Amino acid sequence: MTATIIDGKAFAARVRAQVAGHVTRLKDDHGITPGLAVVLVGEDPASEVYVRSKGKMTVEVGMKSVEHKLEADTSEADLLALIDQLNNDPEIHGILVQLPLPKHLNEDLVINSIDPAKDVDGFHISNVGLLGTGQKSMVPCTPLGCLMMLRDHHGSISGMDAVVIGRSNIVGKPMAQLLLGDSCTVTIAHSRTKDLADVVRRADIVVAAVGRPEMVPGDWIKEGATVIDVGINRLDAPEKGAGKTRLVGDVDYESCAARAGAITPVPGGVGPMTIACLLANTVTACCRANGLDEPEGLTA
Ligand code: GUN
Repeated sequence: MTATIIDGKAFAARVRAQVAGHVTRLKDDHGITPGLAVVLVGEDPASEVYVRSKGKMTVEVGMKSVEHKLEADTSEADLLALIDQLNNDPEIHGILVQLPLPKHLNEDLVINSIDPAKDVDGFHISNVGLLGTGQKSMVPCTPLGCLMMLRDHHGSISGMDAVVIGRSNIVGKPMAQLLLGDSCTVTIAHSRTKDLADVVRRADIVVAAVGRPEMVPGDWIKEGATVIDVGINRLDAPEKGAGKTRLVGDVDYESCAARAGAITPVPGGVGPMTIACLLANTVTACCRANGLDEPEGLTA
């Protein structure tokens, strides 16, 4: 079998175009411009790249983008004061605090100080609880992007056996909740799972989100299964020249693609969907804040 490649880059462009259409309507019909604030503490180079990219795409879809870059030694009180200010700013509909935070800051405390209605990451404990009980919530962007791709590829995923490898709060756990919400039979596997190969071999859907380069080999994949690779790992690539690197996912792409029915590539799969879903969540938050119908197809 040769797998269908699920083109996340093209899909994300479609989602951003939909978002841009909603932004235009909000502006033209209601005089409202959705606003997204991103807070970055410290100078982690990878985080700076993400934040720049988020800001650029926010502006491209017509939203207001605000960036707050704080020194690495910013106190918790100062960060909480900024979040309070953003919580109370009527022009800001979404707030994202880039993770990881420097070690002296309590991540849970900071995240839970964001107004849940503006928590476009879906990390606030209220949103986690709402998602877990099947209620309307803000849904974490990466799992939402994966769900959109699965629904688009399969139509319905009801009744399918899904395995999520990884149990993080950002991806693994919310991904499992979303798959359960779409009536999959869900297994969450992790580093202590016995016989991971056997567990993965039973799955119609495999979502790999462990952050270990190429850890899932093709012979774990059931013939025809759909493989969603959330991993973005940078490896040295001396074959490309001195100091060069390449990006790989959590699955071994070539061997998995040889058995899968469909697979997301790295790069160009899940990655672009995450920012597209952040923009979608910001429009959703803006509509809810203003008592307007929220866009269809952009939420879980
Ligand atoms: N760091 C890596 N991924 C994410 C994300 O989705 N949201 C936030 N806030 N920080 C991150």
